[in-house]
Amino acid sequence: MRILVTGGAGFIGSEYVRMLLGAPGGSAQGVPPVEPPGVTVLDALTYSGNPANLDPVRDDPRFRFVRGDIRDAEVVDEVVPGHDVIVHFAAESHVDRSIAGAAPFVTTNVLGTQTLLDAALRHGTGRFVHVSTDEVYGSIAEGSWTEDWPLAPNSPYSASKAGSDLLALAYHRTHGLNVVVTRCSNNYGPYQFPEKVIPLFVTNLLDGRTVPLYGDGGNVRDWLHVHDHCRGIALVQQKGRAGEIYHIGGGTEMTNKELTGMLLDACGADWGRVVVVPDRKGHDRRYSLDISKINEELGYAPSIPLEAGLADTVRWYRDNRSWWEPLTGAQSA
Ligand SMILES: NC(=O)c1ccc[n+]([C@@H]2O[C@H](COP(=O)([O-])OP(=O)(O)OC[C@H]3O[C@@H](n4cnc5c(N)ncnc54)[C@H](O)[C@@H]3O)[C@@H](O)[C@H]2O)c1
Repeated sequence: MRILVTGGAGFIGSEYVRMLLGAPGGSAQGVPPVEPPGVTVLDALTYSGNPANLDPVRDDPRFRFVRGDIRDAEVVDEVVPGHDVIVHFAAESHVDRSIAGAAPFVTTNVLGTQTLLDAALRHGTGRFVHVSTDEVYGSIAEGSWTEDWPLAPNSPYSASKAGSDLLALAYHRTHGLNVVVTRCSNNYGPYQFPEKVIPLFVTNLLDGRTVPLYGDGGNVRDWLHVHDHCRGIALVQQKGRAGEIYHIGGGTEMTNKELTGMLLDACGADWGRVVVVPDRKGHDRRYSLDISKINEELGYAPSIPLEAGLADTVRWYRDNRSWWEPLTGAQSA
């Protein structure tokens, strides 16, 4: 089995690669071993792609890295042949950046996905796993989204992901490409670029700085450890039905204010370190995924409780300053 992982130098893609190859800290529980030649990563190494995320697998003979852009049809056409599966993570992923400038979100998330889908079709790739987000549904005041819920994205990021989801599903309906789509809630864990709320807060707190809390802190998110997300993707890759969408969620919903309280406790800091800042434009109030489908069809359930996962994550950032200090410009005390 040869697997092409796009965006495999990013936060979630690199966890997937470490998990597939059974790297230390990326246990392969329930995931069949990958035989040589194994796993190819295709990644453009944008600001959030970090070669260090792949250090634990760099010397594995089953691993190959190609630096390249998914928008570049020639590169994609060279890399795709010979792979049985594409697991597509590569994306511009940060909502705030999409508010500041949407162009790379449209070109990478929409056109890049279409470029990959065309190559998969041309070269007869056996399965295309498109990794997406709950943000495509917009915001839900009560209850939880099921997979057939209408899409109503509110940010340029989520709108570009919705576009890519629809394209992927259209390639299944129109061309019979073996596509499966996953939509996941908010992830946290090691190796996450310190612009997203959890690593931003943790690294700021570890450095004795303040943390910015948006608006009234009442926005609700469902937090999932990245390893549980990757276990869910592996199940969908192996057993998901072609043309289907699967939700992957954590079942731990909380407000940003509650999350902030947990992070302050985990880092030994107090509310004096929190600065309230004006709310994000178009800020979705609440996300909530119904995960019955993946649970009943594929036997998925999250395994890492939030409190334990956050404690491990804080420990990882405490122990791996050399990973994040070059990214935040911080200096060791
Ligand atoms: N982070 C979350 O909480 C979350 C939740 C649900 C779904 N997702 C989805 O999971 C995927 C991965 O998210 P992440 O948090 O790991 O993002 P990330 O920003 O950490 O990683 C993205 C990776 O894609 C690469 N990339 C970007 N543009 C590229 C291009 N044009 N060509 C090739 N490579 C390119 C980057 O270099 C980086 O390695 C995304 O598709 C995202 O929408 C993320």
